[in-house]
Amino acid sequence: MTGMDFAPLHSELDPMEIASRDEIEAHQLALLKQTLARAYENVELYRAKFDAAGVHPNDVSDLGDLAKFPFTTKQDFRDCYPFGMFAVPRERIARIHASSGTTGKPTVAGYTRADIEVWAECVARSMRASGTRKGDVVHVAYGYGLFTGGLGAHYGAEKLGCTVVPVSGGLTGRQVQLIQDLGATTIMVTPSYMLSILDEYVAKGLDPRDSPLKIGIFGAEPWSNSMRERIERAFGIHAVDIYGLSEIIGPGVANECVETKDGLHIWEDHFYPEIVDPATGEALPDGRLGELVFTTLSKEAMPVVRYRTRDLTRLLPGTARTMRRMEKVTGRSDDMIILRGVNLFPTQIEEQILSVDGLAPHFQLKLLTKGRLDAMKVQVESLPERADASNRIALAKILKERIRNSAAVSVEVDVLEPGNVPRSAGKAVRIVDTRSAR
Ligand code: DLL
Repeated sequence: MTGMDFAPLHSELDPMEIASRDEIEAHQLALLKQTLARAYENVELYRAKFDAAGVHPNDVSDLGDLAKFPFTTKQDFRDCYPFGMFAVPRERIARIHASSGTTGKPTVAGYTRADIEVWAECVARSMRASGTRKGDVVHVAYGYGLFTGGLGAHYGAEKLGCTVVPVSGGLTGRQVQLIQDLGATTIMVTPSYMLSILDEYVAKGLDPRDSPLKIGIFGAEPWSNSMRERIERAFGIHAVDIYGLSEIIGPGVANECVETKDGLHIWEDHFYPEIVDPATGEALPDGRLGELVFTTLSKEAMPVVRYRTRDLTRLLPGTARTMRRMEKVTGRSDDMIILRGVNLFPTQIEEQILSVDGLAPHFQLKLLTKGRLDAMKVQVESLPERADASNRIALAKILKERIRNSAAVSVEVDVLEPGNVPRSAGKAVRIVDTRSAR
């Protein structure tokens, strides 16, 4: 079945999903003014920043005026830990989530009851765009807890009227059993953990194409179109991209439409996107690659103004919906590897790995110091049928060559036996930096 067979009817969409650009922009401007005023009046950080920049919420007469306002960064969240970003009294906060952060304090996000309702609607809309329908059995393998993935997906699936199976991540054998026994038609999970689930099907002697799954809604980490093809072919499903971040709301900020799979429609009635030059902060026009910046339009507990996501992408005009799209995220600026002057993202390596017959899609990039130079070792696995030493050496040679040709940089490649690249039940760890501090 093509993606078209899963596309929602026009009559099933929210009115905002089919509004004209003029209607969307008028709606955005009204909400933007309210958000800036709420932030200025209730959050010390915003008042101080706006005052220092000499801007006031009353200065906004069109959407372009937002560019005069200062950015918000992850550091601001840290400085305001734990509740300093909240614009409502703590008693009105119905839920807290937090992102772990590799160092230091977690980033705390707060939601009022109304925020949780909006979030559920955004995820339900995302799921409907992905091809999921009321009555579907939805297997949620995103982690439950402080991470927004599990509970975000859960509330959205309930809102859409689905039967939710709240499995969370881990215990891969049990994941397969539950998908099969409970007849899951949609799975929500990180793409990298979906690959572990795929391995488990094979290990159990089951054909993943016979699984009841029809739709996979994958996100929380960058993944390439080649990875999409690999997963779609292996399971015979439609693999659709969902994007979001805890500072803004969680999953459901943007989602692909199953009928087009051409980038993620941003739910612009709730989240206002901009693209800026990551180095200078200058606003860039639609179509240009840069850093994605979001301003929330409807959040009560934690309005966020011009948040620097560090995710690199570009804004594109709407296709299946009138709302603008963001291209599949290339990577986070933090994950950009600079190797002897060449900029590289893990997704570029992923695409090359997936182009080599005989390699498995599990990989890690090790950054090393070789003498006075930086080096990178790609650790990847062979498929079980190509695991003997001579095969693995030959595969390494092919991959090394393809990376040199596509990225113009020389890397080391280690093709390991199956099962030797560390797995994660959530977001994959792609980069391991073992360089000596200089
Ligand atoms: O990862 C929210 C989420 C959960 C999204 C489940 C989708 C599905 P955080 O832990 O705050 O929130 O991490 C947010 O993850 O800034 C991106 O760098 C990355 N990310 C999220 N979705 C995608 C995606 C959740 N579809 C950070 N493609 C973001 C690429 C993604 N990167």
